[in-house]
Amino acid sequence: MALANLLRGTAFFAGFLPSFSRLGYEARRRRWPSARLNFQGQRWLVTGASAGIGRAIAVGAAQAGAEVVAVARQRDALERLAQDLPTGTLRPLTADLSLMQAVEQLARQSVARHGPFHVLVNNVGAMFNQPATSEEGLDKGYATNLLGHYHLTRALLANGGLGTAATVMHMSSGGMYNVPLELERLDSHRRYDGTLAYATHKRAQVALNGWWRRHYGDAINSYVMHPGWVDTPGVASAMPEFRRAVGGLLRDPEAGADTALWLAATRPAQASPEGIWFDRALRSAHRLPGTRDGAHVEALVRKLDQSLAALQPPLQLTA
Ligand SMILES: NC(=O)c1ccc[n+]([C@@H]2O[C@H](COP(=O)([O-])OP(=O)(O)OC[C@H]3O[C@@H](n4cnc5c(N)ncnc54)[C@H](OP(=O)(O)O)[C@@H]3O)[C@@H](O)[C@H]2O)c1
Repeated sequence: MALANLLRGTAFFAGFLPSFSRLGYEARRRRWPSARLNFQGQRWLVTGASAGIGRAIAVGAAQAGAEVVAVARQRDALERLAQDLPTGTLRPLTADLSLMQAVEQLARQSVARHGPFHVLVNNVGAMFNQPATSEEGLDKGYATNLLGHYHLTRALLANGGLGTAATVMHMSSGGMYNVPLELERLDSHRRYDGTLAYATHKRAQVALNGWWRRHYGDAINSYVMHPGWVDTPGVASAMPEFRRAVGGLLRDPEAGADTALWLAATRPAQASPEGIWFDRALRSAHRLPGTRDGAHVEALVRKLDQSLAALQPPLQLTA
């Protein structure tokens, strides 16, 4: 089993390194036209905005004129970011995306103070190498990577927090190429493997984006994206060996943020609800055999709704 995991991991990293690393970004960006971003008059809500890719998205949007509500758990990091911003407006708001009551409060507060939003960036994500349970009794990875943003998006749809045809972005990961959508892997602690659980959350985000597009395509313009492999605090703490191995080939956070800012600026039409955006292009969400064999997305949505419905006290905001 350990050998199989090692071989699978090595094949994955070697196969995707040229594309997902800085090398792929540098090669592709030469073909992109240069254009100044202009988000004047827009209001953005960005989760996980105090560090890494989320921070680069929040700063990029604010410097291009957007008023950005920046969400994370630690207020001091958000306040430092707001103070250090040379131009633009960034409004700190604390919330823990792994707690559904906190997500609901975030939906209320952010809209009452700053909404409705033109752009929502569902960026928070983390790899939990050990199984962990939230105060609400949910698997922490499942809650942080999937359920929190599902609830946030629905809550904002329910309370008018998203303007007409608002852009909604979900931050997936190329790790999802490794796995099918196995519902038990989303939140089970039996035979727990943090890398596989994380990859499955990211696979679920991709499936869910197709669902958002099919069911809410008139209300929101939903995209799912992969940022490439980026040097961030999250990678340093959860994947130190990977970081050492890839080293100087990791992208910087601004490169990781590029596709998100580009999607918001161009709002490209998406002929099919399937696929994942990466380096400014829509790409297939399947590269390896067997990854199409997973659960149907409707079963995923039922599971997410059941997780939310089981919480006490009951949640109020659902679309
Ligand atoms: N880095 C990569 O190579 C890579 C590759 C593929 C996909 N991604 C995805 O890109 C996204 C960003 O990754 P990153 O590497 O930039 O992350 P990161 O460096 O770990 O930064 C995470 C940000 O999210 C906040 N955060 C973490 N947990 C939170 C929670 N429960 N509630 C609210 N805020 C929380 C953190 O601030 P606080 O600690 O103050 O809350 C911080 O601002 C994730 O979805 C990740 O899965 C990253």
